[in-house]
Amino acid sequence: MKHCFVRLAALLSLSAILGSCGTGSEAECGQLRVIPYPAHVEVRGGTCDLTKFRTIGCLAGELAGEARFLAARLAEAGIDATVGSEAVARGIMLSLDASIDSPEGYRLRVAPKRIEICGATPAGVFYGIQTLLQELENGAVRCGTVEDAPRYAWRGFMLDEARHFSGEKRVKELLDRMAAYKLNRFHWHLTDAQGWRIEILKYPDLALVGGEGTHSDPDTPAQYYTQAQIRDIVAYAAERHIEVIPEIDMPGHASASNKAYPQYSGGGTAQFPEFTFHVGKEATYAYLTDILREVAALFPSKWLHIGGDEVSYGSDAWKTDPQMKAFMRSKGMTTVEEAEGYFIRRMSDTVRMLGKIPAAWDDVLACGMQVENSLIYWWRHDRPETLRKALAGGYRTVLCPRKPLYFDFVQHEDHKWGRIWDGFCPLEDVYAFPDAWLEGWGLTSDDLAPVAGIHANLWSELTHTPERVDFMIWPRLCALAEAAWSQPETKDYDRFLDRLNDAYARFDRDGVYYFDARDAAHHAEPAGPMIRKKGEPEMDFRD
Ligand code: ACM
Repeated sequence: MKHCFVRLAALLSLSAILGSCGTGSEAECGQLRVIPYPAHVEVRGGTCDLTKFRTIGCLAGELAGEARFLAARLAEAGIDATVGSEAVARGIMLSLDASIDSPEGYRLRVAPKRIEICGATPAGVFYGIQTLLQELENGAVRCGTVEDAPRYAWRGFMLDEARHFSGEKRVKELLDRMAAYKLNRFHWHLTDAQGWRIEILKYPDLALVGGEGTHSDPDTPAQYYTQAQIRDIVAYAAERHIEVIPEIDMPGHASASNKAYPQYSGGGTAQFPEFTFHVGKEATYAYLTDILREVAALFPSKWLHIGGDEVSYGSDAWKTDPQMKAFMRSKGMTTVEEAEGYFIRRMSDTVRMLGKIPAAWDDVLACGMQVENSLIYWWRHDRPETLRKALAGGYRTVLCPRKPLYFDFVQHEDHKWGRIWDGFCPLEDVYAFPDAWLEGWGLTSDDLAPVAGIHANLWSELTHTPERVDFMIWPRLCALAEAAWSQPETKDYDRFLDRLNDAYARFDRDGVYYFDARDAAHHAEPAGPMIRKKGEPEMDFRD
């Protein structure tokens, strides 16, 4: 019998396989179709027909969820699989293998009548399943072996729900797609100037009043997630090995909260009214601690993000507020920046007291954020010195610079609805991240040791419809996934573009309005919103 298994020691390296491929298509080259591309691949002759061998066996009780997940996906592909708790000689066997040394690593072996998926943890098995599912074609999978593990532990995406609200159904669809591409962190930007999107039981008006309006229409009735919905979405994400990190932005970007509870407002400027919390009032700390206590209880993630960005947009108001001035005098502070630092350090301690690790945007480095038990998101691409400072200081850091990882920037030179600043964020720049940027940042790959991973952000001012959200995310998130998972020597942009054809086919099947990098005319750029202020007519944001 021709045997399809190969031993790890006998695996050819990917580069050797690539070397023999010339310029043929992935299938012709013995390549997988998978995004993100695995570390080691060997494709052999023959296939395993899952319409015939459709029993799923899993000995480890903790893999029951993975087995059910696989059975449900096979059912969607028209394959009626059965799940059992015994070893199967024919069919798909899921198991744990402590000898796999990466916590998210897996081994997938496909023989004509049997498929084995092993991981050190259920997450590894889940990623092996995702590889299998992407390879499934007409009910069959090619024989061979895959040995795989991620480059970065943090592979994330942030959705801003404050400016425009997506809602439960859309978020679950996003989580499904993130899981398919092995992304494992969903950062949920739930509060900002234009909307408070999470129910807080002690302060119901946060959602009921703070949740009214969007960036484009101030008269939209309140939109927010109830605590029951949040629990459901967090559980849905966990089944897909995605951790949900909530962000409650403070002390800036607080206008929605201040609309509901003005007694905690620290004021703002003419351009950004009521932008800050009042950091000089004890009551504000009690209020925010109450909020964070409810948030901490809802999200099992060990991280809780407290924003900390762009406080200077509103903190000028602190200079003239009598209570603020008295507070600063009592603490011997002479600048509002010192008051900002006091607030960030104190609220970070509150987060730690609640049993979580505070995460914040890189602005907090200037606030004396402590190094241990903190997580910094570097976002200001024009300030590489801030990244250097974070890394040299030993801060655990997530890389998410505007360029190229802000997906509210346009991705094509002809696109009009999105940010352009110092250029834009095309697919190939996302794909080449972070290695192509190191020199410009004045860093080497060794300097990246404290980097937890990489992360793309979608700010939603200009994404008021599902079409616009999808258009800005896809396929850039596929490129981010490969940049986060695959080792630099495994990456190949041309081959990625070829594999992307399968992603486009899945998007077409699922009704995702993606940007088609093959043919920019295929899906026309959906127009952005007409922005309206309360009592004022609509205006085109480009005017
Ligand atoms: C940010 O873009 N204000 C983090």
